[in-house]
Amino acid sequence: MKKNIAVLRGDGVGKEVVKGAIEVLKAIGEQYDHEFSFQHALIGGTAIDKEGTPLPADTLEVCKHSDAVLLGAVGGPKWDQNPPHLRPEKGLLQIRKALNLYANVRPVTCFNSLLDASPLKREIIENVNFVIVRELTGGLYFGKPSGRKIENGEETVVDTLSYKRVEMERIIEKSFEMARARKKKVTSVDKANVLESSRMWREVAEEVAKRYPDVALEHMLVDNAAMQLIRNPRQFDVIVTENMFGDILSDEASMLTGSLGMLPSASLSSNGPSLYEPIHGSAPDIANMNIANPIATILSAAMMLRLSFGMEDEAKAVERAVEQVLAAGYRTADVVQFPRKSISTTEMTERIKEALVEDGAIS
Ligand code: NAD
Ligand code: IPM
Ligand code: MN
Repeated sequence: MKKNIAVLRGDGVGKEVVKGAIEVLKAIGEQYDHEFSFQHALIGGTAIDKEGTPLPADTLEVCKHSDAVLLGAVGGPKWDQNPPHLRPEKGLLQIRKALNLYANVRPVTCFNSLLDASPLKREIIENVNFVIVRELTGGLYFGKPSGRKIENGEETVVDTLSYKRVEMERIIEKSFEMARARKKKVTSVDKANVLESSRMWREVAEEVAKRYPDVALEHMLVDNAAMQLIRNPRQFDVIVTENMFGDILSDEASMLTGSLGMLPSASLSSNGPSLYEPIHGSAPDIANMNIANPIATILSAAMMLRLSFGMEDEAKAVERAVEQVLAAGYRTADVVQFPRKSISTTEMTERIKEALVEDGAIS
């Protein structure tokens, strides 16, 4: 099969981890006889520096004409004082909106070999396997009005949380579809004791649930959900929630797996190419040191193979290779357990590629 992949490396460790994922995709291409072509384009701070905007029109064109988009991460202290429209993160929000990437799917799976790498006890995280389905194109991130003004001599700021019913419906439906293929349970997370938007979200969830009698629906307030994720994460199958809650809960959930550098994601489009990216950011504190964990991005590439290209065997091969390398004891510094020695970003990528080749030779 021939596939066109748009590559947006972005800033900081984004560049390093995407390099790893491309190498793994190339290895899969060779092994399974696919032709993957990679077209690079700018986003984030790097795009601001080179083109004066965080999402150049060319970049959007390249993405729209691709079969899928692979993204690293954006942002960094260099641009933190920029005005809102010239922030790297704005580029990410714009591309999510422009490509209609409404469903951000963030699977949380604990690898057996990393059970002791989490700050939580092994008994708590063993067999954890759930997915956070985060609404990605609405809510506080896109609400209008938003900004500062002087009102009656007082500096005032406003961010607006706004959703259309159809936006709630499609993401909740997506979560039910996913639950149907899993353990048939949806936990809808909201703040219905305070927010009107959450009360409407609950109402929509109840309506959607009627069309999925085989799937159980429960509601959970977000503050309780944050606690339950640590207390008993095995209770979850599919968590569906609005944009900001999903952002926060998924970073929290990543620590069940041992590191933020482990969690992949797919941002699914309603009508065009989808985008795949790790959930972590540009990690400026470790950028250019060749120590970032590339696994979140490599697993995001596996999600691309499965969800955008229908290449289930290839996706499984990548996931197996990651598992084998971890089982063999290799770790990057973020998950390293004393007295183990850590390996670099490039070494981790090499080990995963080797595991792919060996796996291919066996099967
Ligand atoms: P971050 O996710 O970049 O980093 C948080 C911590 O996790 C840091 O200590 C970092 O070193 C570590 N970490 C993250 N990814 C890692 C990896 N692959 N391997 C090893 N360690 C890793 O979050 P932050 O520091 O709050 O934000 C830094 C910048 O990234 C900000 O500009 C923020 O806006 C941006 N950001 C971008 C995205 C994205 O592009 N999708 C996501 C989150 C944050
Ligand atoms: C993420 C990031 C982004 C978000 C930022 C960088 C805009 O934290 O992808 O999780 O909040 O969505
Ligand atoms: Mn985030």
